[in-house]
Amino acid sequence: MLEIRNLVSGYGKLAIIQDVSFKVDAGDFVAIVGPNGSGKSTLVKSILGLTNIFEGTITFEGTNITSWKPEKIAKLKLGYVPQLGNVFPDLSVSENLELGGVTVRDEGQKRKMRELVVELFPILKSRSGQRAGLLSGGERQMLAVGRALAAEPKLLILDEPTAALAPIVAEQLFQRLVEIRQKLNVTIILVEQNARKALGLANRGLVLVQGKSAFEGTPDQISKDKDIIRLFLGELAI
Ligand SMILES: Nc1ncnc2c1ncn2[C@@H]1O[C@H](COP(=O)(O)OP(=O)(O)OP(=O)(O)O)[C@@H](O)[C@H]1O
Ligand SMILES: [Mg+2]
Repeated sequence: MLEIRNLVSGYGKLAIIQDVSFKVDAGDFVAIVGPNGSGKSTLVKSILGLTNIFEGTITFEGTNITSWKPEKIAKLKLGYVPQLGNVFPDLSVSENLELGGVTVRDEGQKRKMRELVVELFPILKSRSGQRAGLLSGGERQMLAVGRALAAEPKLLILDEPTAALAPIVAEQLFQRLVEIRQKLNVTIILVEQNARKALGLANRGLVLVQGKSAFEGTPDQISKDKDIIRLFLGELAI
């Protein structure tokens, strides 16, 4: 579904991501973990056309999308929940969801997706007229995920959706991601601070350190690699 090959990317003339390669198959749940500042957001932003790409290729469903403009990438079945600013605070919950589905032409299909979204996150129904800026942190993240889903993505990329959420709220969101993968057949890339949790949900993991891929494999392989854990994820990570 997605293939990143020898990617070197960053901002201005500065390369942050250094020769990273990885593949995501349909149905995968990929966790991207690593220390603060290791380039996790930069890596996923590169997929969305939000960085400068110096070398390498990004292929989505067989199409080379390297250096495509973000507007063009937005038309692909590729959902993105950014780390910051992921809802329109001045618009209502339902307007946010409406905008999320704006690229879906078929009205019936659009309605069906809206129903699925409020089934996953019932709170969005009861808050539908409320300004998104007034939602709690957890509700806002649920709206951000709902908004991305409204566009019917095949691949959903989430950048630390549970940062700053209480553990119980984070857990609810994680469970919804599992459901989204299973019931809606959506492939997931999750960037997470909580390596233990993310690798527990995922079937593949990428450990990013200083812009480089320090390890890639199954969560099991990662959890057996004591050096990776000790050096990069912290003793308590797994
Ligand atoms: N817009 C930008 N312009 C220049 N440098 C940037 C920009 N955004 C991020 N960086 C730099 O790129 C490096 C990687 O940052 P990035 O946000 O990708 O890390 P991260 O792994 O997502 O960190 P965190 O876990 O804190 O979210 C950092 O050194 C950061 O200062
Ligand atoms: Mg980040």
